[in-house]
Amino acid sequence: MSATSRASNHPLMHQWMPFTANRQFLEQPRIIARAEGVYYFNTRGEKLLDGSSGLYCIPLGHGRPEIREAVTRQMEELDYAPPFQFGVPAAFQLAAELAQMLPVGLNRVLFASSGSEAVESALKIAIQYHRARGQGARQRLIGRERGYHGVNFGGWSVGGMVNNRKGFGVGLPGVSHLRHTKIAENQFEMGEGTHGANLADDLQRFVDLHGADTIAACIVEPIAGSTGILVPPKGYLQRLREICTQHGILLIFDEVITGFGRTGQAFAADTFSVVPDIMTMAKALTNGCIPMSAVAVREDVQQTILDSAPPDTVELYHGYTYSAHPAACAAGLATLKIFREEDTFARVRALAPAFLEQVGAFRDLPYVTDTRGFGLLGAIDLEPRGKPGERGFKVLCKAFEAGLVLRNAGDTIVLAPPFAASTDEISQMLEITRRVIISA
Ligand SMILES: Cc1ncc(COP(=O)(O)O)c(C=O)c1O
Repeated sequence: MSATSRASNHPLMHQWMPFTANRQFLEQPRIIARAEGVYYFNTRGEKLLDGSSGLYCIPLGHGRPEIREAVTRQMEELDYAPPFQFGVPAAFQLAAELAQMLPVGLNRVLFASSGSEAVESALKIAIQYHRARGQGARQRLIGRERGYHGVNFGGWSVGGMVNNRKGFGVGLPGVSHLRHTKIAENQFEMGEGTHGANLADDLQRFVDLHGADTIAACIVEPIAGSTGILVPPKGYLQRLREICTQHGILLIFDEVITGFGRTGQAFAADTFSVVPDIMTMAKALTNGCIPMSAVAVREDVQQTILDSAPPDTVELYHGYTYSAHPAACAAGLATLKIFREEDTFARVRALAPAFLEQVGAFRDLPYVTDTRGFGLLGAIDLEPRGKPGERGFKVLCKAFEAGLVLRNAGDTIVLAPPFAASTDEISQMLEITRRVIISA
């Protein structure tokens, strides 16, 4: 019987799984039944280390009781209220707390539910901002090759991962892409690469080609995550900032992965000392347990949009049914409280050097072609064997059998340990990864 006909009778066939080889999955399902701390449990009750913090979203580990209890209390008090024309206390409090935590100047916050929604919101705000200040011709958006900004039309259009683009048509018009920053000169360099700051000058070339007065925004992930952890070359983000400032282009940092401590500071903007005009965040905002995302904008960006609308009218025709959902706000408040009280990001700074050293040590394997990392993000490139991505996927499957959940981006193996992991647990993650890579 072919895989397709076997799949059509399978008891698990009704869920169309996202970003998954569905037919292959049904042949060998990988089911996660339970989680606690930095461990998952499979259906046989066996432990698996969570080497990727869920999808980079569970830095504090699974099942933090403070978050669960805060959500429960909120659900008992107020389970839902419409976010258009009405407000809930927890949402204002969360926005105010985020404004405290964000880089100075980014102090207006709009909520959504996913990273993709945050990105769409950010792009729309950027275009509307320019329109509001009388520069409506600024509609072009600049993204970057190998970037990932979610799966909605705006996000994949500015994103630069071919498989996420090619099946879905032509995308938004007026989008250009900077070159990505993975260059041979920085091979095996952990941390920021020494070479490649000049790649930011691609933005200047777009200015020269199209005219600054047609460009609304430039969006990048400070560290490109989903494509396999591309750390910015030293000086690269500063250069992007300079060009944006010089030409009135809004700089958007997509901090959906890097936000909330992953790089050792609250945001990568803090770590790299470059403040964008707009920032998107999600994932760790609620420690992953309730979907939530946010867009932070400079006060004057919001004010410009507010001032341009006639009095007593809606200024931004945008929002979601689940924007600022009370349960998500409660989870966010409880998560931020833990970050503050436990000085969580200091823990990342303490764990990162040994983690990065261990990731870098994979260079001794002959078929490892690069290692990269920053903070608690690490990547190991494997020489492809068979089809592109086949070897990486094999490592993911074998790791699951060996007691570790990790991620592969094609033939790149990615580790992003929860900040709650101990040094021993992180070492164990890397030991399993090594064993599995050798045997796969
Ligand atoms: C940088 C970045 N932006 C946007 C997204 C999309 O987030 P979501 O999957 O919640 O829509 C992701 C998801 O991994 C991401 O890494």
